[in-house]
Amino acid sequence: QPIKPWGGRFTEATDAFVERFTASVGFDYRLYHHDINGSIAHATMLAKVGVLTDAERDQIITGLEEIRAEIVAGKFNWSVSLEDVHMNIEAVLTQRIGITGKKLHTGRSRNDQVATDIRLYLRDEIDAIAKELTRLQQGLLSVAEREADTIMPGFTHLQTAQPVTFGHHLLAWFEMLQRDYSRLIDCRARMNYLPLGAAALAGTTYPIDRAYTAQLLGFTAPTENSLDSVSDRDFAIEFSSFASILMMHLSRFSEELVLWTSSQFSFIDLPDRFCTGSSIMPQKKNPDVPELVRGKTGRVYGHLTALLTLMKSQPLAYNKDNQEDKEPVFDAIDTVKDCLRAFADMVPAILPRKEKMYEAAKRGFSTATDLADYLVRRGVPFRDAHEIVGKSVGYGVQTGKDLSEMSLAELQQFSTVIEQDVFAVLTLEGSVAARNHIGGTAPNQVKAAVERAKLSLAAR
Ligand code: ARG
Repeated sequence: QPIKPWGGRFTEATDAFVERFTASVGFDYRLYHHDINGSIAHATMLAKVGVLTDAERDQIITGLEEIRAEIVAGKFNWSVSLEDVHMNIEAVLTQRIGITGKKLHTGRSRNDQVATDIRLYLRDEIDAIAKELTRLQQGLLSVAEREADTIMPGFTHLQTAQPVTFGHHLLAWFEMLQRDYSRLIDCRARMNYLPLGAAALAGTTYPIDRAYTAQLLGFTAPTENSLDSVSDRDFAIEFSSFASILMMHLSRFSEELVLWTSSQFSFIDLPDRFCTGSSIMPQKKNPDVPELVRGKTGRVYGHLTALLTLMKSQPLAYNKDNQEDKEPVFDAIDTVKDCLRAFADMVPAILPRKEKMYEAAKRGFSTATDLADYLVRRGVPFRDAHEIVGKSVGYGVQTGKDLSEMSLAELQQFSTVIEQDVFAVLTLEGSVAARNHIGGTAPNQVKAAVERAKLSLAAR
């Protein structure tokens, strides 16, 4: 049994179950890179201020790098009785380099150490997530550009509303992800302050140089208050909020893909490599990827709720409760990365069935508003125009004709101001082209929006 680094005052061994119950190494071993980086920076700072000699610092760094290499190679023996990643690494360091290893923890506590590690870890993961989010957005832009003229029905209440372009629809998803990206970057900036130096809760009596450690680890500055530093987990909650909102967006996106691949819609096809079959029904091709992304949204919401509840009512400063922050954060990271990867791979491969989209837009009287606007331009008050078009639609429902399929005489039954030029506004092409302003669905507006969006991605 390894000796506990905190065993001095204890007179009996830890209960075996309690040892397992309180240990976190089973999941926090993931922090090893960042724990080692934090320790190296701490030792470097201690040497700079004269608490360690340069030789001691070098011995510590060499020892830690050896341990890192062993962990990477899968040769490191994690011990549950050493509780967590921090004490496992420190104990092995001391076994290796002897007395100098015991000096590493000078002026530091696991409380400020773990707060530092998880920020360093999350910061790297945020950078990876930002890249993947950008890749998905690039995919959306390339499809939006290609499909700027492709007409589909736009919906409200999931009932056909007005024609839109497929490119415009894709850009709606793009915009959601733009906000997600900016939330992610905000979260990173607010989180990027160094807790190390807060020690257990009150600071330390050594002449530490926190600004130097912050600089070594790429933090903007040291945190201001030691009590807050060891007890704050806002950044984990903020990250989970970002992740939850992102997943909410991806789930809406998923839901539309699932609907659109159904034979009832048939708006798109997904390549076989993103789908799976049924073990009983030979005809099936199921959109598992979007379904699973939709489903995984729930666990990420769960992690946000878990973290908010974990922090609620905790007195200052550090409490062991905080050990429970890791699994939700890790799983939120893994889930978001997987879902973004799946979507970034899949989106450029979406195959639109343009004729089906076009037919659906035609069938649903989607140009009814255009007819009302036409009547208004000829002096009919909008409410009367609405009524007239409503009657025309009723007639279309009875006779099975779209507005554009009616003869001029048929349309004139409902209003005598209608003339031959009405057919120009009743086409789907005319309808989308007329919404020609920033944010509108006109193909040239979609193309301009894609150009602006590309510039914004290039500026990241
Ligand atoms: N494993 C602990 C955690 O995750 C590290 C900090 C423990 N500190 C303490 N005083 N028990 O929070």
